[in-house]
Amino acid sequence: MLKLGVNIDHVATLREARKGISPEPVTAASLAELAGADGIVVHLREDRRHIQDRDLHLLREVIQTKLCLEMAATPEMVKIASEIRPELVSLVPERREELTTEGGLDVISTQEALFGVIETLHAAGIAVALFIDPEANQIKAAQKVAADFVEIHTGAYANAKGDARRGHLKDLVESAKLAVSLGLKVNAGHGLDYMNVLPVAQIPEVEELNIGHSIIARAVLVGIGAAVSEMKSLIRLATRSSSVLH
Ligand code: PXP
Repeated sequence: MLKLGVNIDHVATLREARKGISPEPVTAASLAELAGADGIVVHLREDRRHIQDRDLHLLREVIQTKLCLEMAATPEMVKIASEIRPELVSLVPERREELTTEGGLDVISTQEALFGVIETLHAAGIAVALFIDPEANQIKAAQKVAADFVEIHTGAYANAKGDARRGHLKDLVESAKLAVSLGLKVNAGHGLDYMNVLPVAQIPEVEELNIGHSIIARAVLVGIGAAVSEMKSLIRLATRSSSVLH
């Protein structure tokens, strides 16, 4: 059965907006698991703009499904991953100025370095995915560097419309087939939402979808009614109770 990894980075984004303690990503992870998430995904970025090191340590303790760590292939991140030992590391390109991961890894031009990083992660017992665009040459290179999974970037599909979207879907389908024929396992994600997920969820070779922004965005909207009612009840109660001011 197709699995769902829930990316909770944006729960941490909201917390970091005030540099406070709420909302707590670890609580979000547990609630996502209770609702059926098959895994929790976080991206520890070099600039720590959302997920922090403490989140990663706590998530490792609390998560009962599996932890997928998205990270750049840098010595700092490889060291952290080797300590935390997530079930899966998804290696992604990272630039400080980007709002989110914008493109896939260029596996072809970084083969040697990636091979070393993957070897180190494997030695720590961690499976490795490479986040790549749906391109045959990148998939072949992923096999050469001994990756376990490719995570196929669905962003171009998600951003396109009409015929262009159908073209990108074809690329996703063909890439997934090629990857499996080369012995790679296939995950997919980026930009998937409630309107565009269906065709991608029907690609038989895909084992897991990683979805973040659309789920957290929807959580805000479906939760706003209950949150406002709770505050309103509290205020109403306060106006009826005896004063605490003196
Ligand atoms: N997969 C990877 C490698 C990502 O970097 C991201 C974004 O953090 C996702 C999946 C999830 O993308 P989205 O937040 O658009 O659902």
